Amino acid sequence: MIKDISPTGTQKNRGGAAKPDLSVTIAGVRLKNPVIAASGTFGYGSEYADIIDVSRLGGICTKGLTLHPRPGNGGRRLHETPSGLLNSIGLENPGIRAFIEKELPGLRKLGPAVIANLSGKDIDEYAEGAALLDASSVDMVELNISCPNVKAGGMMFGLDPQAAGEVTREVRRVLRGKPLMAKLSPNAPDITAVARACVNAGADALSLVNTFKAMAIDIRTGKPVFDNISAGLSGPAVRPIALRMVWELWEALRSSSGTGETTRAVPIAGMGGITNTGDALEFLMAGASAIEVGSATFVHPQSMIEIIEGITEYMQRMKIGRIEEISIR
Ligand SMILES: Cc1cc2nc3c(=O)[nH]c(=O)nc-3n(C[C@H](O)[C@H](O)[C@H](O)COP(=O)(O)O)c2cc1C
Repeated sequence: MIKDISPTGTQKNRGGAAKPDLSVTIAGVRLKNPVIAASGTFGYGSEYADIIDVSRLGGICTKGLTLHPRPGNGGRRLHETPSGLLNSIGLENPGIRAFIEKELPGLRKLGPAVIANLSGKDIDEYAEGAALLDASSVDMVELNISCPNVKAGGMMFGLDPQAAGEVTREVRRVLRGKPLMAKLSPNAPDITAVARACVNAGADALSLVNTFKAMAIDIRTGKPVFDNISAGLSGPAVRPIALRMVWELWEALRSSSGTGETTRAVPIAGMGGITNTGDALEFLMAGASAIEVGSATFVHPQSMIEIIEGITEYMQRMKIGRIEEISIR
């Protein structure tokens, strides 16, 4: 039923409901609405400025940033699958110093909260990058311990709770003035254990999911499509699994798991295959405080704007005043 909500439907203001408040606060950072452009799918924001009204977004996550510039992976980088997208970009970026100098001023002017997605090949590189970001004007750091497309670092830290805790602790130590959101890998054998390790090491929020490790073979050549053989799967194909992971994590954090372990119930940014208002509402109902949209922007750049309008309309129709009141019944 929710899926039928039209972003420009006729239900607007029915019943004279007051304009709902879409703002959310994630680890002290106020977003004017819960819709964030996901890392690696929105450049540094300005690339989309001629196509959509970027200022309407709640936040923008940058492409994964590393201390030093990276050229990214060679060979094929994108491959479509049924309802999905495989990517093997490999953290191509100009390096954190160049990002701060050349991209951040323009990104700041766009209006939405700026979230820097941080990666590294080892803990020292993560920490050095975090120190540079700490001294910059970004609003928050999203700790990428979940990229499946690099040989060193990335997902290596996000599969194991101990490694995830160590890198989070080290980044937290140098990131004195900014909130830290750890971005989790759906490929972790126990994503809840990784999440607990990150929160216990000082993460203020969690985001999930990054892409699922997957592959494709070109049957004409008999060779894998990607030089790295595997790549990361995103898009609607992963959505029900991502939703289940957000739900389970939220449940685990807010209630005692029965194992005697308790962890602060930090806010969650949920993502994975969100393409429309109904998808976004599902993640908010599953416990997410905000949502990130990635692959959908490639197909339909207006997706995020339509989702913001659709959530507004839903809240008006349901007479819901604040995002936090959207929950599973
Ligand atoms: C082309 C592409 C590049 C990506 N690059 C990054 C990245 O640099 N850092 C990161 O944390 N996630 C990256 N991601 C993962 C997305 O941010 C997101 O977690 C994932 O795609 C799931 O969301 P979606 O199904 O809405 O795309 C990338 C995804 C795609 C499709």
